[in-house]
Amino acid sequence: MKILVTGGTGYIGSHTCVELIASGHEVVIVDNLYNSSADVINKIEKISGVKPAFYQTDILDKENLEKVFQENKFDAVIHFAGYKAVGESVAIPLTYYENNIAGSINLYQLMKKYQVRNLVFSSSATVYGDDFEVPFKEEYGLGTTTNPYGTTKKMNEMIITDMNKADENNSAVILRYFNPIGAHESGLIGEVPNGIPNNLVPYIAQVVAGQRDFLRVWGNDYDTVDGTGVRDYIHVVDLAKAHVKAIEYAASHKGTEVINVGTGKGYSVMQVLKAYEKACGKQIPYKVMDRRPGDIAVCYADTTKAEKLLGFKAQYDIDEMCADSYRFTCNLAKQ
Ligand code: NAD
Ligand code: UFG
Repeated sequence: MKILVTGGTGYIGSHTCVELIASGHEVVIVDNLYNSSADVINKIEKISGVKPAFYQTDILDKENLEKVFQENKFDAVIHFAGYKAVGESVAIPLTYYENNIAGSINLYQLMKKYQVRNLVFSSSATVYGDDFEVPFKEEYGLGTTTNPYGTTKKMNEMIITDMNKADENNSAVILRYFNPIGAHESGLIGEVPNGIPNNLVPYIAQVVAGQRDFLRVWGNDYDTVDGTGVRDYIHVVDLAKAHVKAIEYAASHKGTEVINVGTGKGYSVMQVLKAYEKACGKQIPYKVMDRRPGDIAVCYADTTKAEKLLGFKAQYDIDEMCADSYRFTCNLAKQ
């Protein structure tokens, strides 16, 4: 298939492009490089042997986005482009709604105009909120989001569902990611955080690289194995492979499916820290702080639907995730 990948030079998008190419698909990337660099295109080529077509285009710029549709006959779209920082979304909500909602609507309108009927959308476990029991199941539906970023994911899910109800020839798979970490085993692509990382593993990586003094562990009084927060970490390459299965599923079905992508296992902050210490061979300093507002104690996926519908099961374990993150961090430091 010829697939438009919005946000394809970003963290998850770049790994997905590598896996799409490996599965024989043709990839066209649209990204405005707000949170990524054009050099990622060369890295994708180095890994996969194929240089994807690239348009430096903002999805908010409908006129230029339309040119991409005029120049290419797409079979499908994987939509990653968006802003993703939870804290920032609280401070500048309109910017988040504009980019993540108005940008998405531009894209969906062009898909309609050019009859591109197959879509995979990047949603998040954040849409479950704190309303449900773990493991989170897709059939729970949408919970109460606690920040504008989460609300943009929830709204996109609703928009896609309504859009596909109105046109029964459309097909979409909405993937609810749990916590993607790690990097490609080549060490060439991975997550490059913008500013002070909010997420656990990018923060640990910067402590290991000497850019931060210690990890701040946000609370150790939760009702969990060691009191620290538990999450379902998934290797980004596993997540990328799930996208290949999801877009192939979308192309051979109609309607809308919501599917969790996680491992189904939860690890605490201290367990991740230990795994990272094993990967880098040194102790990582940390201090226990108060709980972070808005955090939940435990979050992990029910992965039955991904297995049943997509035949997808995550392969990498937490040690491999940390080892690959560490390799990428070492390469970044050398640049
Ligand atoms: P990322 O920031 O690395 O990638 C997003 C890409 O989109 C970037 O390259 C950025 O430059 C581009 N972009 C942003 N706004 C754009 C616009 N208006 N026009 C064109 N390009 C634009 O983020 P990621 O971690 O790869 O996340 C990809 C998607 O998955 C996002 O939608 C994110 O919300 C979602 N998601 C991520 C996580 C996570 O933990 N990383 C979890 C759940 C969902
Ligand atoms: N944590 C720390 N110290 C840090 C960062 C995080 O102790 O410096 C802890 C958190 O308290 C939490 C765990 O590590 O217990 C994971 O936190 P992250 O910030 O890495 O991830 P979250 O689960 O809070 O949120 C992430 C994304 C959201 C997404 C959600 C579910 O940031 O956008 O996963 O997919 F919605």
